Amino acid sequence: MYSPEQTKKTQLATNEFLKLIQSGAVAPDQLEELRNLLRFHEHRYYVLNDPLIADYEYDLLYKALEKGEAAHPEKISPDSPTQRVAHGLTKEFPTVQHLVPMLSLDNSYDAEDLQDFDRKARELTGLAEIEYCVEPKFDGASISLIFEHDQLVRAATRGDGVEGDEITTNIRQIRSIPLSAAFSTYGLQQVEIRGEVLINKRNFKKYNDQLIEQGEDPKANPRNMASGTLRLKDSSEVGRRNLEAFVYHVSYYSLKEGAPVPAPLTTHAGSLQLLWELGFRSPEQEKQVFKGIDGVIKYVAAFEAGRDNLPYEIDGMVIKVNDFALQEKMGMTSHHPRWAIAFKFKARQATSKLLNVEFQVGRTGAVTPVAKLEPVAVGGVTVSSISVHNEEYILEKDLRIGDHVLIERAGDVIPQIVKSMPELRTGEEQPIHFPKNCPVCSGPLFKEEEEAVWRCTNIECPAQVVERMIHFVSKDAMDMRGFGEANVRRFYEMGLIKDIPSLYLLDFTKLKGIEGFGQKSIDNLQSAIELSKKQPLHRLIYALGIRFVGETTAKTLAQAVSHLLDFKDFSLEQLQHLEDVGPKVGGSIYQFFSNADNITMLTELEKLGLTLKNEKKQLGGTGNLTGQTFLFTGTLPTLKRSQAEAMAEEQGGQILSGVSAKLNYLVVGEDAGSKLEKAKKINSVKILTEDEFLQLIGKK
Ligand code: IVH
Repeated sequence: MYSPEQTKKTQLATNEFLKLIQSGAVAPDQLEELRNLLRFHEHRYYVLNDPLIADYEYDLLYKALEKGEAAHPEKISPDSPTQRVAHGLTKEFPTVQHLVPMLSLDNSYDAEDLQDFDRKARELTGLAEIEYCVEPKFDGASISLIFEHDQLVRAATRGDGVEGDEITTNIRQIRSIPLSAAFSTYGLQQVEIRGEVLINKRNFKKYNDQLIEQGEDPKANPRNMASGTLRLKDSSEVGRRNLEAFVYHVSYYSLKEGAPVPAPLTTHAGSLQLLWELGFRSPEQEKQVFKGIDGVIKYVAAFEAGRDNLPYEIDGMVIKVNDFALQEKMGMTSHHPRWAIAFKFKARQATSKLLNVEFQVGRTGAVTPVAKLEPVAVGGVTVSSISVHNEEYILEKDLRIGDHVLIERAGDVIPQIVKSMPELRTGEEQPIHFPKNCPVCSGPLFKEEEEAVWRCTNIECPAQVVERMIHFVSKDAMDMRGFGEANVRRFYEMGLIKDIPSLYLLDFTKLKGIEGFGQKSIDNLQSAIELSKKQPLHRLIYALGIRFVGETTAKTLAQAVSHLLDFKDFSLEQLQHLEDVGPKVGGSIYQFFSNADNITMLTELEKLGLTLKNEKKQLGGTGNLTGQTFLFTGTLPTLKRSQAEAMAEEQGGQILSGVSAKLNYLVVGEDAGSKLEKAKKINSVKILTEDEFLQLIGKK
């Protein structure tokens, strides 16, 4: 797509623009150049997964474009990077007809099936050997995209294959799909392409956790989440979910008058390359071409062995006859093309027996039924208990104790019960009774209208108290290392702790003599507790476990006040003015700060030495590391890693988990291993010692 020279030129131009932005506005005749720069960086980030600038630099450029376009609205083009943002809600998704019906593929499951496919292909074509192109079968939601005169004009779901739902606004949120592409340089006027929208495993987990936090049912697998997201009415939420897309098939094209068929469009591999060249994320790097079926069989097996290393889910491989003329000769049945076949990977499914259902009470009082199963291996992991979410879910899946159930594990995602198998019932199976009272404190359970979850309303319920403390000490919250779930439970049962403030009043002398608690662990625990007092405000807010307040909302809240107790005086309306705080989240925050017990607890925590002040706000600083990314490796001479991370975060820095081109600084200590080696190979990563890091953050 971009030659090394172009990349270099664009990078220089980026630096020029970044300077220009600092000194003044972008001139109207520079807006198109700025758009091209942003498109270049979107492509680096979303298609190549290899950004050349920091996120905040991208944001600077983006904001400058927004500003320039706002001053000169006549200069906005529909394919401007700013035009992905949608305003308002989609009312409905009109039904549209595909230019070419979207057929599905025939399936194969083993080498023999592939040999059969090859034999038939040779018979149909009369050839002794056929060239195949092999690529992953992406496990997402299929889409069709239509480009006319280089512009994306329509996107649709597969629907029934003939007609689908028009979802253009939502598709425009997916940044690996260019809004315009230079098809005309190949003489192409109108093009329909097919692809798959997916959500990567990491984001899947993130959004599922969010759904659970909001009391909604989690999605069973990334595919369901991708197709569900495409149908959301609120396209800004679609944008937030970070969908990705691969395109893998040119299903239709028309040429400009007199234009010849472009050479790449004579083979499938050529078409993947053409799409890649035009800036799409096609499986150009994953695909491979083979003469004859033997190489194909080896390649699909190798890909299956490595499937868990991919960041997204694939459920097989697709084998396509490479030559388009041959494809045409082979034609199709009413259901699928004869020139392609899907090779399905072994499903990570297993059957087991549902032995019992236990009810667990969470930190917000939510009662979650957990199915206890006969242990069974699913895709290399032994599963013996699976959350079955709520009462409706149990009814919907028609689960009974004693049932045989089908279990599935999608990638490294939590296992799910796919279905019960009523045909195997003996008559001995027992219905699952949802308790009317809390299984821990026997208090009454309550269910809000429109919610699926029953909750124990007793705020003093031991289960909730313990879960709240477990959350409070956890890594992403106050990060009290050495505490951990098991110790919270143990100390609670021993009467050493009773609520959050009591964590800071732990009598260490009583820990002596407890099994597994030597002086060293006591010292570690003591220093972890002390250190946690210095955690920034947003961590404390997150640690409080206010319903619907995740890490992002906690950061928003922390920035809104100079002291946490300022929230006592916030009205519900004021809360809703904060970013991403709607009536539901706002209501929950409001309730929390209206509760006198919570205020007492916070005052107590402040007395115990915790920071309730927004320190940055007090200093008037903005955090001069904003947008910079850090990673710490090896043993640092004076700082603990957690301390160093907190220091970087305090000033707006972000901690990454691995070395990539997204990393700005790698801070190395003694015995830094592979991360250092990797970072040395990436020019843009700056390698610092602890001393240099302290200088950078102005602490030395
Ligand atoms: S080709 C006419 N290639 O799998 C050929 N399909 O049942 C059209 N899929 O509905 C399909 N990855 O949604 C093709 N690399 C790939 C694919 C792929 C995933 C999906 C697609 C299709 C289904 C096949």
